[in-house]
Amino acid sequence: MSDVLELVDVSVVRDGRALVDDVSWSVKEGERWVILGPNGAGKTTLLNVASSYLFPTQGSARILGEQLGGVGTDVFELRPRIGMAGIAMAEKLPKRQTVLQTVLTAAYGMTATWNEDYDPVDEDRAKAFLDRLGMNDYLDCRFGTLSEGERKRTLIARAMMTDPELLLLDEPAAGLDLGGREDLVRRLGRLARDPYAPSMIMVTHHVEEIAPASPTS
Ligand SMILES: Nc1ncnc2c1ncn2[C@@H]1O[C@H](COP(=O)(O)OP(=O)(O)OP(=O)(O)O)[C@@H](O)[C@H]1O
Ligand SMILES: [Mg+2]
Repeated sequence: MSDVLELVDVSVVRDGRALVDDVSWSVKEGERWVILGPNGAGKTTLLNVASSYLFPTQGSARILGEQLGGVGTDVFELRPRIGMAGIAMAEKLPKRQTVLQTVLTAAYGMTATWNEDYDPVDEDRAKAFLDRLGMNDYLDCRFGTLSEGERKRTLIARAMMTDPELLLLDEPAAGLDLGGREDLVRRLGRLARDPYAPSMIMVTHHVEEIAPASPTS
């Protein structure tokens, strides 16, 4: 199996401090990983490297076969192949767009706004992902009025929209109540067990958010 992510001796240094210190890590196709660690440990920084938005200060990062910072690597071609759902993303999205529009625009660039020229095939795809995350009844609701849990589920559907080869989830259940968290964990577990789902890396603070990824467990 080929490497989806290969970090070799990666460090990210800011103001003389190593936020990520000498990390070597390889994620193979189809694998599901969980990153656990205290606040400030560098988890989000590591995901920013994995999503090609941050270049390492030292070491080498290969994402989906492309060398980050390498000759011939175009990050703008690489980024649509990576789905990222995190807290920072929610703030960048227009609050007035509907849930369906929020997911649909992912197919047309990071935070594009709504225009009427969408392909019906894309609309069907967006609805299918939202359905999978239990957001069927919210298609026409404004993104800005959603509850935290509904927003999280919308962001995950949005991250799936580009059919990514690598899905990065930064604390997908943070801020949810117990029921909301259990519900999301169940849905993520189902996603993780789906053999057609992309390779996944999830950051969390809570071991109880780690859903069993194997169908037998
Ligand atoms: N651009 C930056 N410049 C300087 N320091 C930074 C920068 N980005 C992050 N940091 C620092 O790097 C450390 C790691 O940050 P990061 O966001 O990766 O942590 P984290 O593990 O995701 O934490 P949390 O669990 O709180 O989300 C923190 O101490 C943070 O203050
Ligand atoms: Mg973080």
